[in-house]
Amino acid sequence: MRPIAVFLTCFFSGMMLAGCQAQGLKPIELLEPTAERGGNLMQAFQQRESLRVYSDQELALQDLSDLVWAANGQNRAETGKLTAPTAQNKQEITLYVFTPQGAYLYDAKAHVLQPVAEGDFRADLAGPQDFAAKAPVNLVIVGDFSVFPPERNWAMTDAGYVSQNIYLFCAGNNMATVARGTMDKAKIKEVLKLRPEQEPILNHPVGYKK
Ligand SMILES: Cc1cc2nc3c(=O)[nH]c(=O)nc-3n(C[C@H](O)[C@H](O)[C@H](O)COP(=O)(O)O)c2cc1C
Repeated sequence: MRPIAVFLTCFFSGMMLAGCQAQGLKPIELLEPTAERGGNLMQAFQQRESLRVYSDQELALQDLSDLVWAANGQNRAETGKLTAPTAQNKQEITLYVFTPQGAYLYDAKAHVLQPVAEGDFRADLAGPQDFAAKAPVNLVIVGDFSVFPPERNWAMTDAGYVSQNIYLFCAGNNMATVARGTMDKAKIKEVLKLRPEQEPILNHPVGYKK
């Protein structure tokens, strides 16, 4: 086979394989955020803490829906703005959800989890911290570092707002979480098929309090 034919065969087989990786997973249609839940904000501040033990009970769909919406959902449909601010409204942060079934991208506009990869990759997020692989979900905060100049790159800062939203939602709703920089970043980039300029910044194992 000529080199160009070999290249094209490999390229298209690779594309098909990547497409097949999430074939068994369906999108998770999330429920509308419940505006009236979640106690009071001062109590949430009081109870915000890093917790590393989780019940293995699966999150109810309403809780998962509200959690990702609180983290980085669309709260102003008219402008497409989000629950977490971003410098110059660049919206360079993407949230992914890892479950025992697979990895999903949170589409904030449609409020849907779109399948990205089938399989349990929570151990790749946990790295040496085994407790993190046991949480029923793990939220991964990814930043696109190409949207800002290197000397003023706000992606890390913007990731922090999403992280704090997750902490406060959990504190107000009997859930446990911890922000973690620890993870096998190369493997996660591969699983999520990230572009070179995208980086996983933090991950948050989340479960009900044990
Ligand atoms: C940017 C960042 C990275 C962190 N990475 C980890 C981590 O990899 N593993 C971990 O167990 N905790 C991690 N933590 C949690 C801190 O250890 C924790 O916030 C700190 O001990 C203070 O405890 P508190 O959150 O309960 O106030 C991280 C926190 C932040 C803000």
